[in-house]
Amino acid sequence: MITITDKEFKQLAAYIKAHYGIYLKNEKQALVIGRLQHVLMDRNFHSFSEYYEYLISDKTGNAAAILINKISTNHTFFMREADHFDFFRDKVLPFLKNTVLDKDLRIWSAGCSSGEEPYTLAMILDEYLGWDKNQWDARVLATDISSIVLDKATKGIYKTEDVLSLPPYWRHSYIKKLDGETSVISDKIKNDVIFRQFNLMNNPFPFKKKFHVIFCRNVMIYFDAQTKRELINKFYDSIEYGGYLFIGHSESLNHEESKFRYIMPAVYRKEYLNGR
Ligand SMILES: C[S@@+](CC[C@H](N)C(=O)[O-])C[C@H]1O[C@@H](n2cnc3c(N)ncnc32)[C@H](O)[C@@H]1O
Repeated sequence: MITITDKEFKQLAAYIKAHYGIYLKNEKQALVIGRLQHVLMDRNFHSFSEYYEYLISDKTGNAAAILINKISTNHTFFMREADHFDFFRDKVLPFLKNTVLDKDLRIWSAGCSSGEEPYTLAMILDEYLGWDKNQWDARVLATDISSIVLDKATKGIYKTEDVLSLPPYWRHSYIKKLDGETSVISDKIKNDVIFRQFNLMNNPFPFKKKFHVIFCRNVMIYFDAQTKRELINKFYDSIEYGGYLFIGHSESLNHEESKFRYIMPAVYRKEYLNGR
């Protein structure tokens, strides 16, 4: 088993924080060894120093891609923090339906992992807009840094037991059983979600238009306070006035940290300048 020295850990942790925002405290040494052990063994490296040299000299991007696939924590599930979806359907969508006059809805699931969150948003949109949907551009942008989870998300195949938490009407309308054990998201819903690889540390964000809603849930728990503050500011600049930011329930913002107004646990709004 390969071990890691304090110096090697600090070096690698600094690289990961600088490139991906993910902050690894000293206590995470065992996690880093566990997740990267096989990567080092496959390449015949005998130490983390050797691995680090390879990582920083690799110009293909492969080493960095493997690293982030191993280091990111991608745990997610359908209907996670479900009160957010109720609020999105009952308050946010009626507001947007009345105010977005060009019918171009811009909704972003940032840190979407294997797709459960953006597919849920697409199902809500489909059900809510109903027959009117063809008049709207209501596709959801879904991004993540990890190529492995994005591959899974794009396929839209899940264990049947994992989709059981979805309401029966959605299971019936938007999900097909492949066999007893696996189910697939219908093409109709798949076509409403655009998956892209994107690093939230990119500065500035490249989007031409602002979003009406951003979901960035359970992503910033892995960032330190300053990285989180900077990201929140980028989100603020990327949201329309009146738009909403949803974060994870364990990631609340304090008032000094941002210009967003608190609406309910883990939901914030970019207020109109006139306070509407
Ligand atoms: C725990 S999952 C959250 C999934 C979903 N939003 C939810 O709440 O269930 C966190 C995701 O954030 C992604 N992530 C971490 N750092 C990132 C970064 N710098 N840029 C983009 N995505 C990142 C990870 O790859 C991971 O899939």
